[in-house]
Amino acid sequence: MKLWGGRFRNEENSLMEEFNSSLEIDQRLYFEDITGSLAHVKMLVYCEILSATEGELITEGLTGILADIESGALPIEGDYEDIHSFVEMNLIKRIGDVGKKLHTARSRNDQTAVDTRMYARKKAREMVEVLEAFKQVLKDKAEENPYIMPGYTHLQRAQVVTFKHHLMAYYQMFNRDQKRVQNALELLNENPLGCGALAGTTHSIDRTITTKELGFTKPVDNFMDGVSERDYVLELTSDFSIIMMHLSRMSEELILWCSQEFKFIEIDDAYATGSSIMPQKKNPDAAELIRGKTGKVYGALFSIFTIMKGIPLTYNKDMQEEKESFFYAIDTTLASLKIMTEMIRTLKVNEDKMRASVKQGFLNATELADYLVKAGTPFRDAHSIVGKVVIYCEDHNKGIEDLTLQELQQFSDVIQSDIYEYIDYDSILNKGTKVHLR
Ligand code: ARG
Repeated sequence: MKLWGGRFRNEENSLMEEFNSSLEIDQRLYFEDITGSLAHVKMLVYCEILSATEGELITEGLTGILADIESGALPIEGDYEDIHSFVEMNLIKRIGDVGKKLHTARSRNDQTAVDTRMYARKKAREMVEVLEAFKQVLKDKAEENPYIMPGYTHLQRAQVVTFKHHLMAYYQMFNRDQKRVQNALELLNENPLGCGALAGTTHSIDRTITTKELGFTKPVDNFMDGVSERDYVLELTSDFSIIMMHLSRMSEELILWCSQEFKFIEIDDAYATGSSIMPQKKNPDAAELIRGKTGKVYGALFSIFTIMKGIPLTYNKDMQEEKESFFYAIDTTLASLKIMTEMIRTLKVNEDKMRASVKQGFLNATELADYLVKAGTPFRDAHSIVGKVVIYCEDHNKGIEDLTLQELQQFSDVIQSDIYEYIDYDSILNKGTKVHLR
């Protein structure tokens, strides 16, 4: 049985039927589909296109279908073309001919557009909440771990920072991510229901009723755009790709930091796995999976971009194919954020190992140069002098702070005994803008 069978003489080819069906993918839109239909019926009654009794029967039928789907009494399966067909055919099965009036003044084109927007809106709101929880965990973990650690550029030890400041760098990234999703939410919240297939309808419907009922800010301005744009899908998937990129960089650091070479942190057992052959192994699989899945979310983004780039206005069936990628990006980003939140919350930080690493790699060399500058040496000269000090230290296997005052004065006679306080790793963080690292 088809919603559109009237015009056809022959049966649809069975392979084509399978090829055409999106039920497996779009069944998750059942709630939005039924909610959208309930608002549509309410509007049709209000505009006197359906009678009050017809409206009541359809509303009751739809509410029953929703309840049965949620209780499991009505599993979403069978050879239906999509979730829209599934709901409408089940409605007709349950309430008879009056059910056939539901689709008055509506097309599956504005129907799928409104369903997808509402689903995108729901998931984007969830994303904002999950990001909020993650930001809180980052902040708490940062506050609990104000310890000094090496800061890196080019993955070479550079200057002393704090674990707190390092984590708060990620806080900034996820804070921007959250704002991006909020911004996308604002842009997408317009109602495409009432656009019809592409050209509105000769019925005198009132789009402001469904707009209000479904929580949109306004009806879309243009019917043809309303049924054929998926900018919000692209925009959210772009935002999710950026979130995944941030999570992937963080994963890469966690993976490095829990290696024997760093040992700055320990990942909780709950987010690691072992080896089938090497009994000693504890692998950071959760972080590796996030890093790997990031590539697949980018793939989803590029699938959608590529699907959209060649389709003329207005609705084309190509657009059905985007949902799988969009849903993958949503699910993966939400799951990755939740896993990372817990991984950070349960992380053990190795203060001693980070402090010991600070002592290796001349992380106070820049501060020695700053000291020389304060004593009147031009910065370029100071830079060159400290370079020589570093070579001397390397040859003698010492840190700068381990040199005697006489040794230091061989390089510059402006160096006095207050140098040791100046280049002490902890007191460095009390000077200048570095107090911000604390
Ligand atoms: N399942 C379809 C989709 O998601 C619904 C729209 C079908 N419209 C049409 N004119 N064939 O895109």
